[in-house]
Amino acid sequence: MKTRSIDSSSIDSSSIDSSSIDSSSTDLSSTDSSSTDLSSSDSSSSDSSSSDSSSGDILTIDPEEVSFEEEVGDGSYGTVYQARWNGKDCAVKVMDEKNIFDFEDELTILKKFKKSQIANVVELIGSFKSHPIYCIMLEYMPGGDLYDLIHEKKILPWKARYTIMSDICNGIASMHKLNILHRDIKSENILLTADLHAKLCDFNSSATCRQARRESIPIGTLETMAPEVQRRKPSSKKSDMYSVGMTFWEIVTRRDMFDAVGTPRKRKILRLKETGEPEVIPEWCPKSMAALIRKCWKVSPAERPTAKEALVQVKKLEAPGIDQALLALGIFAAQEAIKEKPRALSLDSGR
Ligand SMILES: Nc1ncnc2c1ncn2[C@@H]1O[C@H](COP(=O)(O)OP(=O)(O)OP(=O)(O)O)[C@@H](O)[C@H]1O
Ligand SMILES: [Mg+2]
Repeated sequence: MKTRSIDSSSIDSSSIDSSSIDSSSTDLSSTDSSSTDLSSSDSSSSDSSSSDSSSGDILTIDPEEVSFEEEVGDGSYGTVYQARWNGKDCAVKVMDEKNIFDFEDELTILKKFKKSQIANVVELIGSFKSHPIYCIMLEYMPGGDLYDLIHEKKILPWKARYTIMSDICNGIASMHKLNILHRDIKSENILLTADLHAKLCDFNSSATCRQARRESIPIGTLETMAPEVQRRKPSSKKSDMYSVGMTFWEIVTRRDMFDAVGTPRKRKILRLKETGEPEVIPEWCPKSMAALIRKCWKVSPAERPTAKEALVQVKKLEAPGIDQALLALGIFAAQEAIKEKPRALSLDSGR
Protein backbone atom coordinates (compact mmCIF):
# COMPACT_ATOMS: atom_id res chain seq x y z
CA MET A 1 0.00 0.00 0.00
CA LYS A 2 1.28 3.49 -0.79
CA THR A 3 2.44 5.40 2.24
CA ARG A 4 1.73 8.99 3.24
CA SER A 5 4.28 11.52 4.37
CA ILE A 6 3.79 12.77 7.87
CA ASP A 7 1.99 16.05 7.60
CA SER A 8 3.45 18.20 10.36
CA SER A 9 -0.03 19.37 11.35
CA SER A 10 -1.00 15.79 12.14
CA ILE A 11 2.05 14.61 14.07
CA ASP A 12 1.07 12.29 16.82
CA SER A 13 3.75 12.03 19.43
CA SER A 14 1.87 9.50 21.56
CA SER A 15 3.77 6.51 20.24
CA ILE A 16 7.18 8.00 20.85
CA ASP A 17 8.71 6.94 24.09
CA SER A 18 10.92 9.88 24.95
CA SER A 19 12.27 8.21 28.08
CA SER A 20 14.32 5.82 25.99
CA ILE A 21 15.81 8.39 23.64
CA ASP A 22 19.45 7.63 23.09
CA SER A 23 21.30 10.81 22.43
CA SER A 24 24.45 8.98 21.47
CA SER A 25 22.95 7.55 18.32
CA THR A 26 22.81 10.73 16.31
CA ASP A 27 25.92 11.89 14.61
CA LEU A 28 25.64 15.23 12.98
CA SER A 29 29.33 15.52 12.44
CA SER A 30 28.94 14.27 8.92
CA THR A 31 26.73 17.17 7.97
CA ASP A 32 28.46 20.14 6.56
CA SER A 33 28.45 23.27 8.62
CA SER A 34 28.71 25.35 5.50
CA SER A 35 25.11 24.53 4.66
CA THR A 36 23.31 26.80 2.31
CA ASP A 37 20.44 28.61 3.95
CA LEU A 38 17.63 28.32 1.46
CA SER A 39 15.47 30.87 3.16
CA SER A 40 18.00 33.54 2.40
CA SER A 41 19.29 32.17 -0.85
CA ASP A 42 16.35 33.01 -3.04
CA SER A 43 14.39 36.05 -2.18
CA SER A 44 12.30 35.76 -5.32
CA SER A 45 10.71 32.53 -4.18
CA SER A 46 7.77 34.20 -2.57
CA ASP A 47 6.72 35.73 -5.83
CA SER A 48 6.51 33.21 -8.57
CA SER A 49 4.97 35.77 -10.87
CA SER A 50 8.34 37.33 -11.49
CA SER A 51 10.74 35.37 -13.67
CA ASP A 52 14.08 34.91 -12.04
CA SER A 53 16.89 34.58 -14.50
CA SER A 54 19.41 33.88 -11.73
CA SER A 55 17.51 30.66 -10.99
CA GLY A 56 18.13 29.35 -14.50
CA ASP A 57 15.24 29.91 -16.89
CA ILE A 58 12.38 29.35 -14.48
CA LEU A 59 9.28 30.29 -16.40
CA THR A 60 6.19 32.01 -15.20
CA ILE A 61 3.45 30.02 -16.87
CA ASP A 62 0.24 31.51 -18.18
CA PRO A 63 -2.47 29.17 -16.78
CA GLU A 64 -4.56 29.79 -19.93
CA GLU A 65 -1.89 27.97 -21.94
CA VAL A 66 -2.00 24.80 -19.85
CA SER A 67 -4.38 22.01 -20.74
CA PHE A 68 -4.85 19.61 -17.86
CA GLU A 69 -5.23 15.93 -18.64
CA GLU A 70 -5.50 12.96 -16.26
CA GLU A 71 -4.54 12.87 -12.59
CA VAL A 72 -1.28 10.95 -12.17
CA GLY A 73 -0.72 11.23 -8.45
CA ASP A 74 -2.13 12.36 -5.20
CA GLY A 75 -0.16 13.02 -2.04
CA SER A 76 -0.34 14.79 1.29
CA TYR A 77 0.51 18.15 -0.22
CA GLY A 78 -1.16 18.17 -3.60
CA THR A 79 -2.57 16.48 -6.64
CA VAL A 80 -0.42 15.93 -9.71
CA TYR A 81 -1.85 16.08 -13.23
CA GLN A 82 -0.41 15.22 -16.57
CA ALA A 83 -0.77 18.32 -18.74
CA ARG A 84 0.17 19.78 -22.10
CA TRP A 85 1.96 23.08 -22.33
CA ASN A 86 3.81 24.67 -25.19
CA GLY A 87 3.38 21.50 -27.28
CA LYS A 88 4.92 19.17 -24.74
CA ASP A 89 3.90 16.87 -21.93
CA CYS A 90 4.48 18.11 -18.41
CA ALA A 91 3.30 17.37 -14.90
CA VAL A 92 1.58 20.01 -12.80
CA LYS A 93 1.53 19.69 -9.02
CA VAL A 94 -1.48 21.59 -7.78
CA MET A 95 -1.53 22.72 -4.17
CA ASP A 96 -4.21 24.75 -2.53
CA GLU A 97 -3.86 27.89 -0.48
CA LYS A 98 -3.45 26.08 2.82
CA ASN A 99 -0.19 24.63 1.49
CA ILE A 100 1.24 27.95 0.36
CA PHE A 101 4.37 27.57 2.50
CA ASP A 102 5.03 24.08 1.17
CA PHE A 103 4.60 25.45 -2.35
CA GLU A 104 7.15 28.19 -1.73
CA ASP A 105 9.63 25.80 -0.08
CA GLU A 106 9.43 23.16 -2.80
CA LEU A 107 9.74 25.77 -5.53
CA THR A 108 12.78 27.34 -3.88
CA ILE A 109 14.53 23.99 -3.69
CA LEU A 110 13.62 23.02 -7.27
CA LYS A 111 14.99 26.38 -8.48
CA LYS A 112 18.22 25.71 -6.67
CA PHE A 113 18.54 22.29 -8.31
CA LYS A 114 17.81 23.73 -11.70
CA LYS A 115 20.42 26.43 -11.23
CA SER A 116 22.99 23.85 -10.16
CA GLN A 117 21.89 21.47 -12.95
CA ILE A 118 21.97 18.50 -10.64
CA ALA A 119 21.44 14.99 -11.93
CA ASN A 120 18.67 12.52 -11.19
CA VAL A 121 16.25 15.07 -9.82
CA VAL A 122 12.98 15.88 -11.60
CA GLU A 123 13.33 19.12 -13.54
CA LEU A 124 11.38 22.27 -12.80
CA ILE A 125 9.83 24.00 -15.81
CA GLY A 126 7.98 26.84 -14.14
CA SER A 127 5.21 27.82 -11.78
CA PHE A 128 2.00 29.78 -11.60
CA LYS A 129 -0.49 30.96 -9.06
CA SER A 130 -4.08 31.03 -10.09
CA HIS A 131 -5.93 31.92 -6.93
CA PRO A 132 -6.74 29.85 -4.91
CA ILE A 133 -4.41 27.24 -6.36
CA TYR A 134 -0.64 27.15 -6.61
CA CYS A 135 1.02 25.10 -9.33
CA ILE A 136 4.52 23.78 -9.95
CA MET A 137 5.17 22.61 -13.50
CA LEU A 138 7.69 19.77 -13.81
CA GLU A 139 9.05 17.61 -16.57
CA TYR A 140 6.65 14.71 -17.10
CA MET A 141 8.03 11.33 -16.05
CA PRO A 142 6.29 8.77 -18.27
CA GLY A 143 7.46 5.72 -16.28
CA GLY A 144 5.39 6.78 -13.26
CA ASP A 145 6.66 6.20 -9.76
CA LEU A 146 8.94 3.45 -8.48
CA TYR A 147 6.34 2.12 -6.03
CA ASP A 148 4.05 1.11 -8.89
CA LEU A 149 6.93 -0.44 -10.85
CA ILE A 150 8.08 -2.49 -7.86
CA HIS A 151 4.66 -3.75 -6.94
CA GLU A 152 3.26 -4.57 -10.37
CA LYS A 153 3.57 -8.22 -11.24
CA LYS A 154 5.99 -7.86 -14.12
CA ILE A 155 9.54 -9.12 -14.37
CA LEU A 156 11.97 -6.43 -13.28
CA PRO A 157 15.48 -7.41 -14.39
CA TRP A 158 18.28 -6.93 -11.88
CA LYS A 159 20.14 -4.74 -14.31
CA ALA A 160 17.20 -2.32 -14.31
CA ARG A 161 17.04 -2.43 -10.51
CA TYR A 162 20.74 -1.61 -10.18
CA THR A 163 20.39 1.27 -12.64
CA ILE A 164 17.51 2.66 -10.58
CA MET A 165 19.51 2.23 -7.37
CA SER A 166 22.55 4.01 -8.75
CA ASP A 167 20.34 6.84 -10.06
CA ILE A 168 18.85 7.19 -6.57
CA CYS A 169 22.32 7.35 -4.97
CA ASN A 170 23.47 9.82 -7.58
CA GLY A 171 20.45 12.10 -7.02
CA ILE A 172 20.97 12.04 -3.26
CA ALA A 173 24.72 12.58 -3.57
CA SER A 174 24.01 15.66 -5.72
CA MET A 175 21.50 17.02 -3.18
CA HIS A 176 23.87 16.35 -0.30
CA LYS A 177 26.66 18.13 -2.12
CA LEU A 178 24.44 21.22 -1.97
CA ASN A 179 23.86 20.46 1.73
CA ILE A 180 20.19 19.81 1.11
CA LEU A 181 18.43 16.84 2.70
CA HIS A 182 15.50 15.15 1.00
CA ARG A 183 13.92 13.82 4.22
CA ASP A 184 11.25 11.74 2.48
CA ILE A 185 13.06 9.19 0.34
CA LYS A 186 10.63 6.39 -0.58
CA SER A 187 9.58 4.60 -3.75
CA GLU A 188 6.57 6.91 -4.28
CA ASN A 189 8.97 9.86 -4.46
CA ILE A 190 11.17 8.32 -7.13
CA LEU A 191 9.98 8.79 -10.69
CA LEU A 192 10.97 6.95 -13.83
CA THR A 193 11.78 7.89 -17.39
CA ALA A 194 10.52 5.70 -20.25
CA ASP A 195 13.82 3.78 -20.23
CA LEU A 196 13.68 3.22 -16.46
CA HIS A 197 16.12 5.80 -15.23
CA ALA A 198 15.17 7.26 -11.87
CA LYS A 199 14.84 10.84 -10.64
CA LEU A 200 13.94 12.08 -7.18
CA CYS A 201 10.82 14.18 -6.71
CA ASP A 202 8.73 15.68 -3.91
CA PHE A 203 10.84 18.20 -2.04
CA ASN A 204 8.07 19.29 0.31
CA SER A 205 9.93 17.84 3.27
CA SER A 206 13.41 18.91 2.16
CA ALA A 207 15.60 21.34 4.07
CA THR A 208 19.15 22.50 4.26
CA CYS A 209 21.35 20.68 6.75
CA ARG A 210 21.41 23.85 8.80
CA GLN A 211 17.60 24.17 8.88
CA ALA A 212 17.25 20.48 9.70
CA ARG A 213 19.57 20.77 12.70
CA ARG A 214 17.14 23.23 14.24
CA GLU A 215 14.11 20.95 13.83
CA SER A 216 13.05 18.18 16.13
CA ILE A 217 9.75 16.94 14.72
CA PRO A 218 9.72 13.70 12.75
CA ILE A 219 9.66 14.70 9.08
CA GLY A 220 9.10 12.12 6.34
CA THR A 221 7.20 8.84 6.15
CA LEU A 222 7.02 6.48 9.12
CA GLU A 223 8.11 3.31 7.32
CA THR A 224 11.23 4.73 5.69
CA MET A 225 12.17 7.22 8.39
CA ALA A 226 15.46 6.73 10.26
CA PRO A 227 15.03 5.67 13.91
CA GLU A 228 16.70 8.81 15.25
CA VAL A 229 14.22 10.95 13.28
CA GLN A 230 11.33 8.93 14.68
CA ARG A 231 12.83 9.75 18.08
CA ARG A 232 12.67 13.45 17.26
CA LYS A 233 16.35 14.00 16.61
CA PRO A 234 17.20 16.31 13.69
CA SER A 235 17.64 14.63 10.30
CA SER A 236 21.05 14.42 8.72
CA LYS A 237 22.45 13.19 5.43
CA LYS A 238 22.76 9.80 7.08
CA SER A 239 19.03 9.82 7.90
CA ASP A 240 18.39 10.00 4.14
CA MET A 241 20.68 6.97 3.78
CA TYR A 242 18.54 4.98 6.22
CA SER A 243 15.56 5.64 3.93
CA VAL A 244 17.68 4.53 0.99
CA GLY A 245 18.26 1.22 2.79
CA MET A 246 14.51 0.72 3.27
CA THR A 247 13.86 1.62 -0.38
CA PHE A 248 16.56 -0.78 -1.63
CA TRP A 249 15.00 -3.55 0.50
CA GLU A 250 11.68 -2.84 -1.23
CA ILE A 251 13.35 -2.95 -4.66
CA VAL A 252 15.00 -6.29 -3.81
CA THR A 253 11.98 -8.03 -2.23
CA ARG A 254 9.15 -6.21 -4.04
CA ARG A 255 7.16 -6.33 -0.80
CA ASP A 256 5.52 -3.65 1.31
CA MET A 257 7.50 -2.65 4.39
CA PHE A 258 6.30 -3.66 7.84
CA ASP A 259 3.29 -5.31 6.27
CA ALA A 260 2.47 -7.57 9.19
CA VAL A 261 3.69 -5.44 12.05
CA GLY A 262 0.39 -4.98 13.88
CA THR A 263 -0.32 -2.30 16.47
CA PRO A 264 0.83 -0.07 18.03
CA ARG A 265 2.43 0.32 14.65
CA LYS A 266 4.75 3.27 15.27
CA ARG A 267 6.27 1.81 18.39
CA LYS A 268 6.74 -1.65 16.90
CA ILE A 269 8.35 -0.24 13.78
CA LEU A 270 10.74 1.79 15.91
CA ARG A 271 11.68 -1.25 17.99
CA LEU A 272 12.37 -3.26 14.84
CA LYS A 273 14.53 -0.47 13.43
CA GLU A 274 16.53 -0.34 16.63
CA THR A 275 17.44 -4.01 16.31
CA GLY A 276 19.41 -3.00 13.20
CA GLU A 277 17.45 -5.53 11.11
CA PRO A 278 13.99 -3.99 10.59
CA GLU A 279 13.00 -6.35 7.79
CA VAL A 280 14.11 -9.78 6.61
CA ILE A 281 16.67 -9.72 3.82
CA PRO A 282 16.08 -12.91 1.80
CA GLU A 283 18.84 -15.49 1.51
CA TRP A 284 18.94 -15.07 -2.26
CA CYS A 285 19.73 -11.36 -2.11
CA PRO A 286 23.21 -10.78 -3.59
CA LYS A 287 25.62 -10.68 -0.65
CA SER A 288 27.06 -7.25 -1.37
CA MET A 289 23.56 -5.79 -1.80
CA ALA A 290 22.51 -7.30 1.53
CA ALA A 291 25.64 -5.84 3.13
CA LEU A 292 24.87 -2.39 1.68
CA ILE A 293 21.27 -2.47 2.94
CA ARG A 294 22.46 -3.55 6.41
CA LYS A 295 24.98 -0.72 6.43
CA CYS A 296 22.23 1.81 5.64
CA TRP A 297 20.20 0.29 8.50
CA LYS A 298 22.88 0.88 11.14
CA VAL A 299 21.29 2.41 14.21
CA SER A 300 24.23 4.78 14.57
CA PRO A 301 24.08 7.30 11.68
CA ALA A 302 27.89 7.56 11.66
CA GLU A 303 28.15 3.92 10.57
CA ARG A 304 25.88 4.34 7.54
CA PRO A 305 27.45 4.92 4.12
CA THR A 306 27.39 8.27 2.39
CA ALA A 307 25.40 8.46 -0.85
CA LYS A 308 28.67 8.48 -2.76
CA GLU A 309 29.93 5.35 -0.99
CA ALA A 310 26.62 3.58 -1.66
CA LEU A 311 26.86 4.60 -5.31
CA VAL A 312 30.27 2.94 -5.61
CA GLN A 313 28.85 -0.30 -4.17
CA VAL A 314 25.84 -0.31 -6.50
CA LYS A 315 28.02 0.44 -9.52
CA LYS A 316 30.04 -2.71 -8.76
CA LEU A 317 26.82 -4.76 -8.83
CA GLU A 318 25.62 -2.99 -11.94
CA ALA A 319 28.70 -4.17 -13.88
CA PRO A 320 27.67 -6.22 -16.93
CA GLY A 321 27.52 -9.93 -16.41
CA ILE A 322 27.18 -9.91 -12.63
CA ASP A 323 23.62 -11.34 -12.75
CA GLN A 324 24.77 -14.20 -14.95
CA ALA A 325 27.73 -14.95 -12.71
CA LEU A 326 25.59 -14.98 -9.58
CA LEU A 327 22.90 -17.02 -11.31
CA ALA A 328 25.53 -19.61 -12.23
CA LEU A 329 26.35 -19.86 -8.53
CA GLY A 330 22.66 -20.34 -7.75
CA ILE A 331 22.48 -17.16 -5.70
CA PHE A 332 19.34 -15.85 -7.38
CA ALA A 333 17.59 -19.23 -7.34
CA ALA A 334 13.82 -18.96 -7.07
CA GLN A 335 14.33 -15.50 -5.67
CA GLU A 336 10.85 -14.05 -6.15
CA ALA A 337 9.05 -17.27 -5.28
CA ILE A 338 10.44 -17.45 -1.76
CA LYS A 339 7.93 -16.23 0.76
CA GLU A 340 9.61 -15.89 4.09
CA LYS A 341 7.77 -15.47 7.32
CA PRO A 342 7.69 -11.74 7.98
CA ARG A 343 10.03 -10.89 10.84
CA ALA A 344 7.52 -8.41 12.22
CA LEU A 345 5.20 -11.23 13.31
CA SER A 346 7.70 -12.44 15.87
CA LEU A 347 7.43 -9.12 17.69
CA ASP A 348 3.87 -9.93 18.69
CA SER A 349 5.08 -12.96 20.55
CA GLY A 350 6.81 -10.93 23.17
CA ARG A 351 10.28 -10.02 21.83
N1 LIG B 1 6.79 14.90 -12.77
C1 LIG B 1 5.95 13.89 -12.59
N2 LIG B 1 5.65 13.03 -13.60
C2 LIG B 1 4.81 11.98 -13.41
N3 LIG B 1 4.20 11.70 -12.22
C3 LIG B 1 4.45 12.51 -11.18
C4 LIG B 1 5.33 13.65 -11.30
N4 LIG B 1 5.41 14.26 -10.09
C5 LIG B 1 4.63 13.55 -9.26
N5 LIG B 1 4.04 12.50 -9.89
C6 LIG B 1 3.13 11.52 -9.27
O1 LIG B 1 2.39 12.16 -8.25
C7 LIG B 1 2.66 11.54 -6.96
C8 LIG B 1 2.60 12.60 -5.87
O2 LIG B 1 3.60 13.60 -6.13
P1 LIG B 1 4.42 14.23 -4.92
O3 LIG B 1 5.12 13.15 -4.20
O4 LIG B 1 5.27 15.34 -5.46
O5 LIG B 1 3.21 14.82 -4.05
P2 LIG B 1 3.05 15.01 -2.48
O6 LIG B 1 1.70 15.54 -2.24
O7 LIG B 1 4.17 15.88 -2.01
O8 LIG B 1 3.23 13.53 -1.93
P3 LIG B 1 3.52 12.97 -0.44
O9 LIG B 1 2.27 12.33 0.06
O10 LIG B 1 4.61 11.95 -0.68
O11 LIG B 1 4.01 14.10 0.38
C9 LIG B 1 4.00 10.84 -7.12
O12 LIG B 1 4.14 9.75 -6.21
C10 LIG B 1 3.91 10.38 -8.59
O13 LIG B 1 3.14 9.19 -8.68
MG1 LIG C 1 5.25 12.17 -2.53
